[in-house]
Amino acid sequence: MAVQISPSILAADFARLADEAAAVPNADWLHVDVMDYHFVPNLTLGLPVVESLRKATQIPLDCHLMIADPDRWAPQYAEAGAGSVTIHAEASKAPVRTLREIRSLGARAGLALNPATAVEPFEGLFGEIDMLLLMTVEPGFGGQKFLDMVLPKVRAARAMIERHGGSVWLQVDGGVTAETIERCAEAGADVFVAGSAVYGAADPKAAIDALRAAAAT
Ligand code: DX5
Ligand code: ZN
Repeated sequence: MAVQISPSILAADFARLADEAAAVPNADWLHVDVMDYHFVPNLTLGLPVVESLRKATQIPLDCHLMIADPDRWAPQYAEAGAGSVTIHAEASKAPVRTLREIRSLGARAGLALNPATAVEPFEGLFGEIDMLLLMTVEPGFGGQKFLDMVLPKVRAARAMIERHGGSVWLQVDGGVTAETIERCAEAGADVFVAGSAVYGAADPKAAIDALRAAAAT
């Protein structure tokens, strides 16, 4: 499994997003947290910012939709040029339709699960997704403490993915640092979101290299 690092711009300076993207040329993805004050108690950004960011960087955008009605909005993020669009299982009323729509628009389709949401009920959707995102904090805010309780689920999800041919990426998001990333990688994750560990560092580019090295050990 190749390690991929997706720095979250939630921890970046929102008034300087183009510069903040340029500060991480070694990132595989740019993780864009979309929050709507409904699914989570925080508000960040939406389609206009994604459209602008798309033009301001070559790094593909990994849009994580923490919104109440992803079935309505997810396709528009794919149309706006996102390389990957992830919807929450807790919020989607029609995940099969929405995931298929995301794929039909040329983006990778992701399904996200909160820390307390079991993965087993969603095994039937593995043929519809390109990535499974397991939240390792409660969604809504950056800078929270990594939840160790999610690690057995990462392990179980990795086993399920292998049973389905191994092509689904397994992303973890929340509290990922040079220390916690090792445990996530060991449990089977291969795509790592990091907000404060990258943009809170004096040298974001070096922080990504350090995360990548730690995940590979
Ligand atoms: C939280 C977001 C995360 C957040 C991670 O709801 O989904 O992507 O930016 O931030 P850190 O890495 O600081 O925990
Ligand atoms: Zn996120």
